[in-house]
Amino acid sequence: MVMRFLTASAAKVILNAIRAGMSEVEVSLDLGRTSSTIRVDVYERDIDKLKKIVADPSSVYFIRDGEYYKAAISRDHFYKLMPTGENTAPALVIDGVLMHRVKETNPMDDASSKAVHCAKGGFNMLEVCTGLGYSTIACLSRGVASIITIEKDHDVLDLARINPWSKEIFDNPHVTVIEGDAIDVIREFDNRQFDSILHDPPRFTMATELYTKEFYRDLFRVLKSNGVMFHYVGSPGARHRRIDLQKGIMSRLRKVGFLQIRRRKNVFGITAKKP
Ligand SMILES: C[S@@+](CC[C@H](N)C(=O)[O-])C[C@H]1O[C@@H](n2cnc3c(N)ncnc32)[C@H](O)[C@@H]1O
Repeated sequence: MVMRFLTASAAKVILNAIRAGMSEVEVSLDLGRTSSTIRVDVYERDIDKLKKIVADPSSVYFIRDGEYYKAAISRDHFYKLMPTGENTAPALVIDGVLMHRVKETNPMDDASSKAVHCAKGGFNMLEVCTGLGYSTIACLSRGVASIITIEKDHDVLDLARINPWSKEIFDNPHVTVIEGDAIDVIREFDNRQFDSILHDPPRFTMATELYTKEFYRDLFRVLKSNGVMFHYVGSPGARHRRIDLQKGIMSRLRKVGFLQIRRRKNVFGITAKKP
């Protein structure tokens, strides 16, 4: 199924081309991954839809079988893709909360800076919290042998399935995406199964269960000796709260056996090693 994606800026390019009477224009229809020369007349009957997209710069739209849709899902929660720039991957927003860093970075660059701390050539990795799969892709590009990644939310995976920037996690034979709650799924893994772990949870208040001593004990159990975990913490709330949160996390990691626990300020995370 061929899907064409439009953001406000792509829609504006097409609208301007229609107004200028052009027959062709160059634009990206896959959220900035590639650009192509398109026939402008195909869009002439959709001027009102294009105007609506231009007026909504924080959403992504797609066209399937001639129909226009917003890349958003509204069920128990509200999920949507949000453009982050001309040639950068869209961010995931759940109930108005951004799941990716976009300030002074973009979701893919941010994912790469996390992967640097835990992904190495030949590693068998575990990732907790697939999201749109950007950190999975960043680990793959560092040459990991395999990566198992866990996402509990079916709707998030549905958005990933349509997102051109997430494609690799479903196509690459070195990736296993498990749909399930990491709290349960992790119990199925063997002791010392993984060379390293990337733990990329939502902010503390949205998923406290992923910040507990019990869960850290499970992460410790499935990690090999000398294995490293990168734990994204983010920067929620006021400065003093962030420090309290980090302190609490570091203390719980120490209690379950992790050593060499270090703050990684530039990536808003913590690394910890299993002795
Ligand atoms: C910050 S995002 C992850 C971003 C992701 N690493 C990426 O690169 O796109 C956090 C994700 O964790 C998922 N999540 C929340 N609780 C979970 C749980 N208990 N088990 C697995 N996934 C969970 C959320 O649905 C959300 O998609």
